[in-house]
Amino acid sequence: MSGLIPQHFIDDLIARTDIVDVLSKRIDLKKAGKEFKAVCPFHNDKNPSLTISPLKGFYHCFSCGAHGTALGFIMEYENLSFVEAVESLASELGVEVPYENKSNPMKKNNDLFLLMDAIQKKFQNNLKNNPKAIEYLKKRGIDGKTAKKYKIGYAEKSWTNILDNFGSADSDIKSLLKLGLIIKKENNKGYYDRFRDRIIFPIRDSRGRFIGFGGRIFEGDQPKYLNSPETPIFHKGMELYGLYECQKSMRAIKKIIVVEGYMDVIGLSQNGVEYSVASMGTATTDNHFTRLFRLSDSICFCFDGDQAGYLAAWRALENSLSHLKDGRQIKFVFLPEGEDPDSYIRKNSTANFEKLLNNGKDLSDFLIQKTSEDIDLKSVDGRARLAERVKPFINKMPRGIFKELIIEKLSAIVGLSAKKLEQSITEDEITKKRKSSSNKALRRKNLNMNQSSPSVIKKSISLILNYPEAVEQIRKIEFVNYEKPGIRILIKLLKNITDEPNMNTAALIERWREDDEGKYLSKLAVNLFPKNEEFNATQELNSCLEQITKNYYNDRINSLIKKQADNQLTADEKAELKEIIHKNKIRR
Ligand code: UTP
Ligand code: MN
Repeated sequence: MSGLIPQHFIDDLIARTDIVDVLSKRIDLKKAGKEFKAVCPFHNDKNPSLTISPLKGFYHCFSCGAHGTALGFIMEYENLSFVEAVESLASELGVEVPYENKSNPMKKNNDLFLLMDAIQKKFQNNLKNNPKAIEYLKKRGIDGKTAKKYKIGYAEKSWTNILDNFGSADSDIKSLLKLGLIIKKENNKGYYDRFRDRIIFPIRDSRGRFIGFGGRIFEGDQPKYLNSPETPIFHKGMELYGLYECQKSMRAIKKIIVVEGYMDVIGLSQNGVEYSVASMGTATTDNHFTRLFRLSDSICFCFDGDQAGYLAAWRALENSLSHLKDGRQIKFVFLPEGEDPDSYIRKNSTANFEKLLNNGKDLSDFLIQKTSEDIDLKSVDGRARLAERVKPFINKMPRGIFKELIIEKLSAIVGLSAKKLEQSITEDEITKKRKSSSNKALRRKNLNMNQSSPSVIKKSISLILNYPEAVEQIRKIEFVNYEKPGIRILIKLLKNITDEPNMNTAALIERWREDDEGKYLSKLAVNLFPKNEEFNATQELNSCLEQITKNYYNDRINSLIKKQADNQLTADEKAELKEIIHKNKIRR
């Protein structure tokens, strides 16, 4: 599984987890007989299509097909990695995760974080003793309180300030190198500080830990900003500058403004707008959107009023489409040429800046504006071209009011009824889905889950997942050497259950998370068996296993006979063939 967390701990965690407990902390559940129902959070819907089975420890959406265990739910819903989800579940149950080899990945980089912390303090201290740096911040309208809030610092005008203070031992040098705070000299003789004579903006992760620095020069030299490189703890595309401070200063965040620069976040905060974050000059990624929408339903992009700002906004729009669930809103504010949020708010007051935000462009308007830039909308041909151009964007949006609204807007412009437009978009979508589902089928085939007559193997697996107790009374397995898709899984599942009879469906499935074939196991956990009195899982399973055994011997006989025809049978194989034929006669 993760390789680091002992399997027995994960089994135990799943066994102790009440899926109803876990899900009801996150979504509204309603009891329905032995199961629970809910509106599925993974697609747009008003109907309760999500079924949760406490017994199996499993959820399944009959509408969008989402399914999994409590652990899977947390991963999906909160966008966590497997280890993070285990951590989260464990802490909900009040237990500590025991890591093998003591290498707790959550604590893995502890020493690096400690070092970052100390260096950040050093930078901040440097600032206090440097009138030039203080003067610069003052000139830019930043007061002591704001400087403290963002822990602004100063890197001394020295080649070895950090090196001298933090690099005494070899292991420290290694850490400083890892963090990109010192750089190896070209002649390989020694090191020098990365940040020299710069204002320092510490970058924090969403938990407040210091993960990197941005350093600004005063005047003159280029580049204007020097940033920490990618390090084990800093991934520029994953982080948003100011997110931690934004979370801290406001409980319920009505909206978040995304700006481009460090100084924009700081300048806005200085002027009372405490809900902005910066993408640090990179594109707004999928990951960014997931994090932002977790904090607020309303995001406003406010980029510089130049070509670069306009392009950045467009890239953000493209990446946002799949996140546009109902209730969410994205706006774009374009500042006058040459201004950025920091300069604008200083020149025009906070109230005026907020007015500008409220008058931002709707995503739909920006989309249509950008796509129709070089199109003559007066001509029929032009309008048709616009419709074609916008379609792929609309296709990326999840179903909902938002999508309908944009279709209506577009229909008014292109002069096609909304119904017709929707029809043609749906057609595109269906072709796309068909393509992707045939791809999926192909992939499954490659994974050997779906080849010639595996249905009885699949059915056995599904029976075992749904009725693990049925395994207690099964016949002896004779087909261990059968090379058929799914057999490996089937045999291992049977062994899992025989070894540990009390495992429920969820625990079984979690054992296969990292297995290429087993990834599809959870699909088979959806119970499609009839729920009547005549249905007997043990009987069903036994007859499936019987069938597999027959198939196995038939295949084996055929292959041995073929070999025999070529005169290639070994003595052992001859004996085997004889024995199987004899056995099979008895069986029939
Ligand atoms: P800006 O130049 O808009 O930043 O670049 P700013 O914060 O407004 O800067 P000043 O102090 O007011 O002039 C936007 C962001 O792009 C990144 C930084 O993250 C910056 O905040 N950037 C910019 C760099 O990484 N390197 C550069 O040389 C320039
Ligand atoms: Mn600026």
